[in-house]
Amino acid sequence: MRAAPTELGVALVGCGDFGTFVLEAIRDIPGLRIVACADADRPHAQRLAAQHDATVHTGVEEVAALPDVDVVVVATPPAAHADAAVTALQAGKHVFCEKPLALTVEDAARVEAVSRRSPGVLVVDHVLRYNPVLRLLQRLGEEHLLDRLRRFAFENDASDEDLGADHWFWDPARSGGIHVEHGVHFFDAANVLMGAEPLQVQGIEVRRDGGPVDIVVATATHPGGAVATHAHSFTHAHRAERQLLRLDYGFAEARVTGWIPTYATVTAWTDEAGAARWEALPGRAAELLAVPGLRPHGGERVSVSVARDAGSPRPARGRGVTRSVPHRVECVVDLGGEARKPHVYTESVRAAMTDLVHCAAHGGRPRADARAGLTAVAVADAATRSARTGRTVARPALAPAGGGVR
Ligand SMILES: NC(=O)c1ccc[n+]([C@@H]2O[C@H](COP(=O)([O-])OP(=O)(O)OC[C@H]3O[C@@H](n4cnc5c(N)ncnc54)[C@H](O)[C@@H]3O)[C@@H](O)[C@H]2O)c1
Repeated sequence: MRAAPTELGVALVGCGDFGTFVLEAIRDIPGLRIVACADADRPHAQRLAAQHDATVHTGVEEVAALPDVDVVVVATPPAAHADAAVTALQAGKHVFCEKPLALTVEDAARVEAVSRRSPGVLVVDHVLRYNPVLRLLQRLGEEHLLDRLRRFAFENDASDEDLGADHWFWDPARSGGIHVEHGVHFFDAANVLMGAEPLQVQGIEVRRDGGPVDIVVATATHPGGAVATHAHSFTHAHRAERQLLRLDYGFAEARVTGWIPTYATVTAWTDEAGAARWEALPGRAAELLAVPGLRPHGGERVSVSVARDAGSPRPARGRGVTRSVPHRVECVVDLGGEARKPHVYTESVRAAMTDLVHCAAHGGRPRADARAGLTAVAVADAATRSARTGRTVARPALAPAGGGVR
């Protein structure tokens, strides 16, 4: 492990929209100081450097050579992520890498291999790993209040309103395509909630008339008879954006809204002992929603109501499991809805960087490590290849990870 300096100097590489957002999100993390801004388009770096009193540079090589830089934030378009991450790691720096970790499995595996051998910590900015709503659902699974997830269905009616025809997003050579550029967030979230990576993937791509691919769908089969579908449609005005993640736990269903989840409802059938445990959740809201480094705004709430004897006490059966579950639970997890999306988004990025800072100081493996980035790219790559060949594609076998999906 690197010796932990008292203050970590941060350099941003790629001073565009999201790099700007990341610096705002992390600027007041104790123990961090923004010292350098680099962009291939120098005026972009100058603008941000002036705001943060940082030095101006043009590329990762320059900032990786600076002795006062300890953490390199990579927020270039995706095609430059892998080389930038490797350059920074090999210079002994920690890396906070925007998603996707790389455009290809080979490049993601290269970053992961260098990360394993390097003293620096690498966090890939899979913000959903640091989302309180998803963290709560994961905890309810660990406590067996929710059964094993058997279905993950994500519908993403996303906006293309700010994505002009010449934006790098539409160019697979620069973005990797939608499965890679955006899909990785949800392939990764499915891996976390399922507790296992998929076995095989089918994908389709839909091209708008005479234009780029703007709708993609992937169906992934996970171990234990579980299925995930991921649909992304970048065809909407901002005001018509909507997302729904439906999670089927058999006797329970969760509906999560917002691509940055801010609200969820859970409906569950249970018995008297289960009802009592559900009814205790509001009093445990802070603990269940806690994510280190993420500061609640204070208006978060978990509410539970139980309709006793809403169903017959006679045994009910689904997928071969028989239970007497006469009570129906309605649970609402509310971080403030869409109005609080900016807060939750910013704080999730802050939590991801806090994870890096913690691991840099104390050792350990960050939640969104290079392995998570590699696995998500591998699933996205399988979906893309399936879409282009019309065949089901097995997710490539990856070298053993040394630890489970978290
Ligand atoms: N984690 C998230 O939720 C999230 C959200 C949005 C974007 N992103 C990711 O952030 C990254 C940046 O997206 P953006 O919307 O800010 O793009 P952008 O086009 O606004 O900014 C990219 C910047 O990188 C610079 N650049 C390009 N190549 C470079 C290189 N080789 N070296 C240095 N600078 C270089 C460009 O000049 C530009 O200023 C993308 O990878 C995107 O996928 C992540």
